[in-house]
Amino acid sequence: MLKPKVEKILNEQIEKEGFSSVLYLSMASWAESKGMPGVAQWLYAQAEEEKMHMLKFIDYINERGGRAIIPGFEKPQSEWKDLNVLFDEVLEHERYISDSINKILETSIKESDFATQNWIQWFVAEQVEEESSAQAVIDKLNLVGKNNLYVFDRDIMSLRS
Ligand code: FEO
Repeated sequence: MLKPKVEKILNEQIEKEGFSSVLYLSMASWAESKGMPGVAQWLYAQAEEEKMHMLKFIDYINERGGRAIIPGFEKPQSEWKDLNVLFDEVLEHERYISDSINKILETSIKESDFATQNWIQWFVAEQVEEESSAQAVIDKLNLVGKNNLYVFDRDIMSLRS
């Protein structure tokens, strides 16, 4: 049985993962409308992953005898100045998500919830990947993208692990 503090923070993460998904969908649609299908594909794939993360939280809460509550999501931003601004935002958002995953681990330690401590480790590792993946895109963008967006857009999917 989940302790109330753990159940609460896990439920808050459903909203954060779901919002990440709609934010990346919004970014994907923006990129698609600006003629960057590769960038859009990268972001659509990212949105799909975030939905999978959200589902993992829903499943885990219910499996542990808690009650997953499906939230509404804030309307995401829909315009970006350029790709640099957009991907800086992706990295910043992933750092924010990493912090919230760490807080879940912290709460489960305080509450002596060993199962959640164990379960959340997958997300701890996943966040290392997510931040590194966003950083890799930014590095590539700085290297080639500014002068050749065509090549950047064509090759971005090769950066996905
Ligand atoms: Fe589910 Fe990108 O954090």
